[in-house]
Amino acid sequence: MDIVVSGIRSTGNLHLGNYFGAIRNFVKMQEENHCYFFIADYHSLTTHPTPANLHQSVKTVLVEFLACGLDPEKATLYIQSDVPEVAELYLLLNMNAYLGELERCTSFKEKIRTQPNNVNAALLTYPTLMAADIIIHKAHKVPVGKDQEQHLEMTRTFASRFNRMYGVDYFPEPVAYNFGQELVKIPGLDGGQKMSKSDNENSAIFLADSPEAIRKKVMKAVTDAGPTEPNQPKPQAIENIFQLLQIFSSSDTYTHFNELYNRCEIRYGDLKKQLAEDITTYTRPFRERMEDLERDDVFLGRVAKIGAEKARESAAKTIREVREIIGFRSM
Ligand code: ADP
Ligand code: TRP
Repeated sequence: MDIVVSGIRSTGNLHLGNYFGAIRNFVKMQEENHCYFFIADYHSLTTHPTPANLHQSVKTVLVEFLACGLDPEKATLYIQSDVPEVAELYLLLNMNAYLGELERCTSFKEKIRTQPNNVNAALLTYPTLMAADIIIHKAHKVPVGKDQEQHLEMTRTFASRFNRMYGVDYFPEPVAYNFGQELVKIPGLDGGQKMSKSDNENSAIFLADSPEAIRKKVMKAVTDAGPTEPNQPKPQAIENIFQLLQIFSSSDTYTHFNELYNRCEIRYGDLKKQLAEDITTYTRPFRERMEDLERDDVFLGRVAKIGAEKARESAAKTIREVREIIGFRSM
């Protein structure tokens, strides 16, 4: 049985991109693997240093994990900071992580650009913390979206370097994994390639959005003046809307609007109204479950506690063995 590990930073609500790119895979994978899914609250401090609502953000993601169908009986669901062994492995991996390779990381370069006033050491070593998250459970597979591939590549580097340096065959080299092969990328409403909350809040529809919020965002989605000749290829922003239609609406609806487009008779207002309605129908059950879970602090507390215990058991075993391999001995 494969060991699967993945995490989501606790920086706000989950959007449709997170769901289709990551969480939906978690839900499928928990059936047949040994899964560890966690909320990366240490990682969230790299970009949200004064976390006024750290606790609430963690609770939100836990509620949303559960509402999406993650099952604490099938998978180990935990909060990263409940497992301090991760921090020790992070420290040990940092001893053999080099400035050059960390500086070359795309996400680091991106952060230098987006938050020039807070280029902290943990941003630089984000990949070693992520590697620690993964290899602490000796994972084989890591379900994540395409944007995380480079971090996984670095995880393999750190794992194999550890094995080589200490002459052991201890850590497996984990691979990025997408259930059913196809890497899914949910496009943004702003005409951008990727729905993302970090880039532009309004490009994203959150699982928690009310029908009213969904309608407003979809109606504001970027479009153009419409095609002037029949059967033309669609510009990116229009392609995005059609991709969303393909995911959330019936195939009849998709065909209907696609034909209108090809005949230059498309009215984006009608298309958007339909799309908003279909997304609302899709997300309604998630939202309802979230409302119930949000009120059940006793249950949430129990889930987090059981998850922490199971995750710590696995993590502590790894730390014991790693200390042994490196050569720490008690006097
Ligand atoms: P954001 O870009 O909104 O800040 P995160 O970086 O927190 O999202 O991503 C969390 C997870 O969701 C990652 O595994 C990432 O690959 C996946 N993900 C995020 N946006 C998308 C998207 N638009 N399509 C597919 N997967 C996505
Ligand atoms: N870097 C991931 C993201 O931004 C979150 C994350 C942290 C993660 N640790 C992880 C993902 C370990 C998979 C495995 O989405």
